[in-house]
Amino acid sequence: MGDLLKIKGGKPLQGQIKAAGAKNAMTKLLVASLLSDKKCTFHNVPNIGDVEITVNLCREIGSEVQWDKKNHTLEIVTHELKTSYVPQRYSGSNRIPILMIGALMGRTDEDIIVPTLGGDMLGSRPVDLHINALQKLGAHIEYRDMKKEGAYLAHAHHGLKGAVINLNYPSVGATENTILAAVRAKGTTLIRNAAIEPEIIDLILFLQKLGANIMVDVDRTICIQHAHQFHEVEHTIMTDRNEVASYAMCAISTKGRVFIEGAEHLQMIAFLNKIREIGGGFTVKPNGIEFFHNGLLKGGVHIETDVHPGFMTDWQQPFVVLLTQTSGCSIIHETVYENRFGYAATLKEMGADIELFTQCLGGKTCRFAACNHHHSLVVKGPSPLHAKEIAIPDLRAGFAYVMAALLAPEVSTISNVDFLDRGYEDLVGKLTALGADITRVVQPKKHPEKTKTALHHLLAEKSLTPV
Ligand code: UD1
Repeated sequence: MGDLLKIKGGKPLQGQIKAAGAKNAMTKLLVASLLSDKKCTFHNVPNIGDVEITVNLCREIGSEVQWDKKNHTLEIVTHELKTSYVPQRYSGSNRIPILMIGALMGRTDEDIIVPTLGGDMLGSRPVDLHINALQKLGAHIEYRDMKKEGAYLAHAHHGLKGAVINLNYPSVGATENTILAAVRAKGTTLIRNAAIEPEIIDLILFLQKLGANIMVDVDRTICIQHAHQFHEVEHTIMTDRNEVASYAMCAISTKGRVFIEGAEHLQMIAFLNKIREIGGGFTVKPNGIEFFHNGLLKGGVHIETDVHPGFMTDWQQPFVVLLTQTSGCSIIHETVYENRFGYAATLKEMGADIELFTQCLGGKTCRFAACNHHHSLVVKGPSPLHAKEIAIPDLRAGFAYVMAALLAPEVSTISNVDFLDRGYEDLVGKLTALGADITRVVQPKKHPEKTKTALHHLLAEKSLTPV
């Protein structure tokens, strides 16, 4: 069993914290650094599990990494590739290994081998958009069944060549993978219907410093030219907008006041609009954003998660906890993932009034309209929440449970804390600084290999998406 959190809720969170660098940017930038043999120096690097996993993966491939965790800086240089085989133990860790295909294909003639969770290209965690786009650029990719799992084998023996790629959904990962491959592809690549999340813009900023010519055009089109020369790069990671939103919602729901240093207004527009709609308070300051409880919180809102610049799917889980503290009935329509309401059952057991629906509730129908997935949710409030013993199933649901426990006046015990460590830097330290009554109960460590396998099986069993 991993470490536990004991949380006694009921206290308003007050004070100031500093936001960390973005998990969803930093992990991709490490992979992007593999495109060249030049040194890359990163600042504002978050000390989180997903960065640790990605650093280890890069080291396996041949990178030399110096990570000064105290100062949040990291230097990485990959003079030569030691291997282009991603060991199987990384397959269930996160969504990073598949990006190795895009990053390494222009750098080696060897097969790039990336094991996967499950083995179905079109299954519950598909990578079809990645594969189709890379094939259009000239990659040869095949899927092979291995003993217990599958793996993608990829190479570009005849070189990569620019192409026009039309994504039928603006997938973040597929856009990133295609950009990475296109940087080393001859000629010009156009990605139509590309994802334009702020983390992708951060990747583009990094790649431009590295030597790429990339333009984000109107209508979600990204244009990438073949890079002829690479340079050393120094880059400061953007703020983690998921972490900012998470603590913001804790501040408002516990009737507190928290200043988040480094919170960037530009990345939070859709989130701030919804905070204003429910009557939450915020003040944008030159160096961050302050969030506070501003009297009665009102429900009656409709939220549709969407690709950027819409309301981010990762904000949805803690927002539902926040809505349990508002008066009235609100609707959430999840249009990005078909299975992201698994956490609602536990919230119901804690006292939340929630119902799930397979229909698209709200303004528009989404691509899950006829699929029978529970992807709409109605929440009524206000509801007092009660403590519970909870096992975390994934990162964002995990934070939703922490938030629910902060609202329950008794002691909740939360297990599978490893999931939170993957995305939240010093969670206990930050919440303690804000006055929360939270303790981490350290459990004896298992062999790391066994821990990975446990996580892997949990994810496979529940068809969850590690994000
Ligand atoms: C990234 C983020 C995650 C965020 C998500 C959407 C990271 C590490 N994770 O995940 O926090 O919630 O973007 O903003 O950056 N899809 C396909 N085929 C594909 C790829 C994706 O059908 O080949 C589908 C997925 O099943 C999902 C949707 O597209 O329903 C969105 O996925 P995608 O945008 O690719 O998310 P990730 O990059 O995995």
